Amino acid sequence: MARLKTVYRCQSCGHSASKPMGQCPGCSEWNTMAEEVVETARPGALSEAVAAVHAAGPAGFGGQGGPGQLTSFSSAVTKLQDANQEAEKRTPVGISELDRLFGGGVVPGQVILLAGPPGIGKSTLMLQAAAKLAEKGPFLYASGEESLRQVSSRAKRLGLSSEQLYLVSESSLSKILGAMEQVKPWAMVLDSIQTVTHPLLASSPGSVGQVRECAAELVRAAKSRDTVVFLLGHVTKDGSLAGPKVLEHIVDTVLYFDTENHDLLRVLRAQKNRFGPTDELGLFEMGEGGLKEVKDATAFFAAELGRAAAPGRAVSVALEGSRPVLVETQALVVPTKYPLPRRMSTGLDLNRVLVLLAAMERHIGLRLEDRDCFVSLAGGLRLKDPALDLAACLAVAGSWRDKSVPSDLVLLGEVSLLGEVGRVPQLELRLREAAKAGFKRALVPARAAKDLSKTLGIAFTGVADLREAASAAFGAE
Ligand code: TYD
Ligand code: MG
Repeated sequence: MARLKTVYRCQSCGHSASKPMGQCPGCSEWNTMAEEVVETARPGALSEAVAAVHAAGPAGFGGQGGPGQLTSFSSAVTKLQDANQEAEKRTPVGISELDRLFGGGVVPGQVILLAGPPGIGKSTLMLQAAAKLAEKGPFLYASGEESLRQVSSRAKRLGLSSEQLYLVSESSLSKILGAMEQVKPWAMVLDSIQTVTHPLLASSPGSVGQVRECAAELVRAAKSRDTVVFLLGHVTKDGSLAGPKVLEHIVDTVLYFDTENHDLLRVLRAQKNRFGPTDELGLFEMGEGGLKEVKDATAFFAAELGRAAAPGRAVSVALEGSRPVLVETQALVVPTKYPLPRRMSTGLDLNRVLVLLAAMERHIGLRLEDRDCFVSLAGGLRLKDPALDLAACLAVAGSWRDKSVPSDLVLLGEVSLLGEVGRVPQLELRLREAAKAGFKRALVPARAAKDLSKTLGIAFTGVADLREAASAAFGAE
């Protein structure tokens, strides 16, 4: 009934052509034509087939009695309750930083894209995960990048071994699917999606068409066999995501692995997560023995936290997903030499910093129009938590006025356009973390202070606005 052929389709307007071409005849864009596999069918064939199922009556829907292909029309119908029960079957990977991102574990048929720049540690992380996953059943590690010897010597160096870990070094999609047929893994990895080639496509591996069609084929295989499939994908340092970007909508989960300007730290973030949270962070440290989980984030960053008070330094507690992390904000405010003063931010969102600078000019009279302002988060983390606002503000104000925030004081609060210090989610959790790290006092939003428990192991003062916060932190003007 249906047969397969390839076409070149414009990724921007959808125009299709039978031959490759540099410029799309439809929208005149350049380099947007990518090769795709399409199924062709006689017009009306689908509706005839559906009509045949209906004509066959309930037997056709039951999948018995009718021709084999008709069962495909009935298999999509499931009771919601039954479907829910299926979704609850999670299998933990056994690496807690990964399971945190998976919401406890992976789900049968889940397809996960693990993307990151080359050399960041994707293969290392996956090999470590593979050894754990292979304890639960056959696991297939398909590498199109490294030879069997390279993979096995890395496994040996990392001290990994497992009875049921199967390796294949292959870049042909048909052979990888063949290996899947042979091993029948419950989970597998393809390292990387940019190295495989689809038998029907002429374009080179790594091209948009190849990446998408190969991934689509693997997604079909994953869903029909309930196999968990990890796809590794490279993104370039400048953030261009050509390959992996086209996959985001066809996979269930997209994880990005990156360094965040830190030598040893590797941060895993979920960009899209059909079966789990997107606000969690997985933290790893790259070392001799591969990737090590960073379970106590505060202890990891505490090594970086300068304890002596200094103008321009302020400490806060960020919440990444469910985990409190102690972070130090640093600011440097200097007279500008430029007509337009410079503003730079590392780790915090620059637009947010600009708003905070404006709020301080207005509400505590900080004159910044002739100053360059540089703000950064120590330790190389990149965070969006508004609870860090107050620390960022007082770091800037401290640098400007050459006054230090006391070294035992931690600052928590969102700062509004009106200069008010606002509520912070999970304040008690954060204060406990600060107490654990040895902080003795905290500035917290005044409205939250009255509901706080007195037994957090840290003294706290409620502040209503920037002015109160500045005088509490730096003493009377
Ligand atoms: P790799 O997993 O090959 O990166 P990717 O698959 O993302 O391209 O990691 C390569 C880097 O990791 C390489 O620079 C060496 C380093 N590394 C360690 O520092 N320690 C180790 O134990 C391993 C296996 C790798
Ligand atoms: Mg690799």
